[in-house]
Amino acid sequence: MSSYVIRKTPGDTAWFRHDRFGMFIHWGLYSMPARHEWVKTNEKIPEEKYEKYFRYFNPDLYDAREWARQAKAAGMKYAVMTTKHHEGFCMFDSKYTDYKCTNTPAGRDLIREYVDAFRAEGIRIGFYYSLIDWHHPEFPIDQLHPRRDDPDAYEKSKGRDMHKYAEYMRNQVTELLTNYGRIDVLWFDFSYEKDPKFPEWMRGKGKDEWEAEELIATARRLQPGIIIDNRTQIEQDIWTPEQYQPQEWPRHPETGELLPWEVCQTFSGSWGYYRDEMTWKSPKMLVQMLINTVALGGNLLMNVGPTSRGYLDARAEAALKTYADWMKVNSRSIYGCTMAEPELLELCPNGCKFTQSEDGKRLYIHLFEYPFQYLELKGFAGKVDYMQFLHDGSELLFEEKTISHFSEGRTQSDDLLTVTLPVVQPDVIVPVIEVFLK
Ligand code: GLC
Repeated sequence: MSSYVIRKTPGDTAWFRHDRFGMFIHWGLYSMPARHEWVKTNEKIPEEKYEKYFRYFNPDLYDAREWARQAKAAGMKYAVMTTKHHEGFCMFDSKYTDYKCTNTPAGRDLIREYVDAFRAEGIRIGFYYSLIDWHHPEFPIDQLHPRRDDPDAYEKSKGRDMHKYAEYMRNQVTELLTNYGRIDVLWFDFSYEKDPKFPEWMRGKGKDEWEAEELIATARRLQPGIIIDNRTQIEQDIWTPEQYQPQEWPRHPETGELLPWEVCQTFSGSWGYYRDEMTWKSPKMLVQMLINTVALGGNLLMNVGPTSRGYLDARAEAALKTYADWMKVNSRSIYGCTMAEPELLELCPNGCKFTQSEDGKRLYIHLFEYPFQYLELKGFAGKVDYMQFLHDGSELLFEEKTISHFSEGRTQSDDLLTVTLPVVQPDVIVPVIEVFLK
């Protein structure tokens, strides 16, 4: 068994830590301007102008089953979709607002279709819910709000009642956690301090403003098994670094315990569909990000930003296909795997990345830099029962102790194990060696 002890949290993260790989979906009105999901505030777009997106939103090509099939093929075991992002627009049918998809040309509950389709593929369901709301009339204007620089911002914001907004959130979370069956993940986003550049009345918002304790209690009462993120500013089940690859397994700041964590990443930088973005990650980088994350005991939530017509564009589909091709034959090094035990980890050769099965019996060596013919594993003599390439289950021969190819003078040691590899790298982006340990 893995010797790593992970911090206990209110929800049970066991399935989550086993499954390792999920799909994040950022979809809303912002897919129409197609220049970042923050476009409303980045460009300080007035309400009347943003309203056009509401009037014309028509995802006529939305087929949630198609998304679900691609997520499943990519090896993603759970999904988290935006039910409402910072723009305030609801992708579900809510009693508490008119600002929802059923009142646009879409004319239907888009979340319902997502839930049904993903569940049918055996993928667990998560909801992202924005704490921030740039449309709600009771949400006080602050430094992030599209109206922050209006000359009459103070006047506009004055009578707004944050309690009413907090109640609105509880009502909507109640709807989301009542009307769609079992929900596995609730992903709130996000809390922030006041920026000193802005006037004093523009307070930051955090757990007190969200009335987060009550919000969380509401969620847990309705879905006792749910996993909740930490972004309300109250510590819950998962720590969520964003667009950043930690170099170590994150630890609790006070107790030093290892944390259940999930990094969220994008294919191209923006979360919402961004037509002109050119910073798409390479296939190799995508696969390595997944491995790097699991190698530190974490999960990867990889984002897609569907178009306003409702489909995933060719670049997103190609990125998902990269995962599908790799995971089809290599997922054993991801599911149920975690950081390798410390005594093995310290033996990891250059250009390689280890993961290890939770039961400790199998070690996975990911070849980030494909070596020339031999992989030398110092310290491994006597530890290995059998070795194969994971992608095709073909045996890899190895010798223990020494290996002679006129290489006297090079470091040899009694604990050396040398694996013979084909000269030409197999046609796999990152080949994996599966090691059955003694
Ligand atoms: C950020 C952004 C947001 C995105 C989220 C995903 O906090 O505000 O647009 O949804 O990260 O992690």
